[in-house]
Amino acid sequence: MNGEQEVKLRLDGVSKSYARGKQRHPVLDRISLTVREGEFVTLIGPSGSGKTTLFRLIGGVERPDEGQIYIGGELATGRRGLISYMPQQASLFPWMSVAANISSALASAGVPAKEAETLASRWLERIGLGAVAKQYPHVLSGGMQQRVSFLRALLMPRDIMCLDEPFAALDALTRADMQAWLLQLWEAERRSVLFVTHSIEEALTLSDRIYVLSPAPARVLAELAVPFPRPRRVGVWKDPAFVELKERVLAMLGEGAAHGR
Ligand SMILES: Nc1ncnc2c1ncn2[C@@H]1O[C@H](COP(=O)(O)OP(=O)(O)OP(=O)(O)O)[C@@H](O)[C@H]1O
Ligand SMILES: [Mg+2]
Repeated sequence: MNGEQEVKLRLDGVSKSYARGKQRHPVLDRISLTVREGEFVTLIGPSGSGKTTLFRLIGGVERPDEGQIYIGGELATGRRGLISYMPQQASLFPWMSVAANISSALASAGVPAKEAETLASRWLERIGLGAVAKQYPHVLSGGMQQRVSFLRALLMPRDIMCLDEPFAALDALTRADMQAWLLQLWEAERRSVLFVTHSIEEALTLSDRIYVLSPAPARVLAELAVPFPRPRRVGVWKDPAFVELKERVLAMLGEGAAHGR
């Protein structure tokens, strides 16, 4: 990725703390990061380091104590409705068909209703879920529900997609399948993505760049470029450079944890 691509998301010195009794409990400590157009960027950090909090700030559900957020080049601090978001657990509406789960979300994001329906059914066909378009979400497996949830985020007309540990609840085999599926779809579509995971392998397999976060209050410990060419395949973990990078990140997370104690 070169530095001339448009910056879709910029965080500039974002800090956040919560009240705990009479004390302030700092969660995020001057986080600065960028996601450029068509870039897949991952945040990796220990549990409780503030990753979901960061997404709540980017989504405008809460405001930072300090710092600013820019989306699509505009000041977006505290503004809602500018990102598409995929949570850890698929959050499909059980009373709506699979297709309506997608089309209604698009319609509420401003896509004309007819176009939203056409998009939903065309894309469900494309990802091999055409046969379940009219079914309700409960008949789908966990992996299929996450595919629908991802599709819904992908089709939202937004500058940036935020994915919060979308595969964490899946078993290891389904998770590997989903990574391969996501790689293929993302490499074809090249949306700007900010992805959160605990898994170093997942981060190295999917991303163009990785920000390593310390335990709370989260600081950016390092920013790494992932050198493996695209299209990338899940088997990239066999590359010796992959193992080396993995060890580097592991060491950083370990040192960060030691300092946080
Ligand atoms: N609304 C809130 N009020 C008070 N404290 C909160 C609130 N939301 C989050 N926190 C605290 O902020 C810290 C970070 O939480 P957050 O959910 O952002 O972590 P995370 O990095 O997403 O963790 P995980 O990897 O387990 O999902 C935690 O200590 C949590 O208790
Ligand atoms: Mg979280």
